[in-house]
Amino acid sequence: MSDARPILFFDSGVGGLSVLAPTRALLPTAPIVYAADNAGFPYGTKTEVEIAARVPALLGRLVERVRPRLVVIACNTASTIALAAVRDGLDLPVVGTVPAIKPAAGMSVTRAIGVLGTEATVRQPYVDDLARRFAADCTVVRHGSAALVALAEAELAGERQPDAAYAEVLAGLLGQPGGEVIDVVVNACTHFPLVADRLAAVAPRPLTFVDGGPGIARRIAFLTEGQGWPDAPVPGRAIFTRLDEHARALAPALARYGLETIEAL
Ligand code: SIN
Repeated sequence: MSDARPILFFDSGVGGLSVLAPTRALLPTAPIVYAADNAGFPYGTKTEVEIAARVPALLGRLVERVRPRLVVIACNTASTIALAAVRDGLDLPVVGTVPAIKPAAGMSVTRAIGVLGTEATVRQPYVDDLARRFAADCTVVRHGSAALVALAEAELAGERQPDAAYAEVLAGLLGQPGGEVIDVVVNACTHFPLVADRLAAVAPRPLTFVDGGPGIARRIAFLTEGQGWPDAPVPGRAIFTRLDEHARALAPALARYGLETIEAL
């Protein structure tokens, strides 16, 4: 039997599209609602206290409105800080997005990996724990970049950004002690896979970029197995906490991801 309840993706901005894309590839007829807290954007420069208060409250409102079957916090900053609180407050499955340190450690030949996230994400104890558990024999170099989040938002709004801006972000990671031997970079912010090709194009040597999107898509497919999806794709919708000029400029990019309408929360 088909079940029309959607999957609700949540992020501060467009980053969650990098999780939505592999999910759509696996579950092409899944109804999708994408929520962006652009009124609270960016999350990466906020304090833990702010994120811990804002995200569970907002998701409570969104779940009331959307009635999803499953929630995906498609944001590393929100997940590494507020995942447990969101799960406690909701009576449905909640999937989080955390830095893909485990697969990166599995791929690194030099045993040096970079973790490129927001300032808030890279300082989280959650990341210390992942590094200790899955990359104990690797040098783990972290770099937080609000600039890269802004670059991705601008690109998706159709504003081409210069190569030099990407090179500067990468230099901030590779220029740190141990950075000169990094061979695998974890895109530990969902915005970053959207511009990974731009980073790769300015890298001083070949780097492998990994992110959690494909793994999260598989997890969603597993959690929803046997629940039934519509027979044909249904148009997705996007909800913004502030329907401003930037949100409207994103409409063509959102449509490319199957999100055909935008609305305010
Ligand atoms: C941001 O709003 O700073 C990006 C959040 C994230 O995906 O970690």
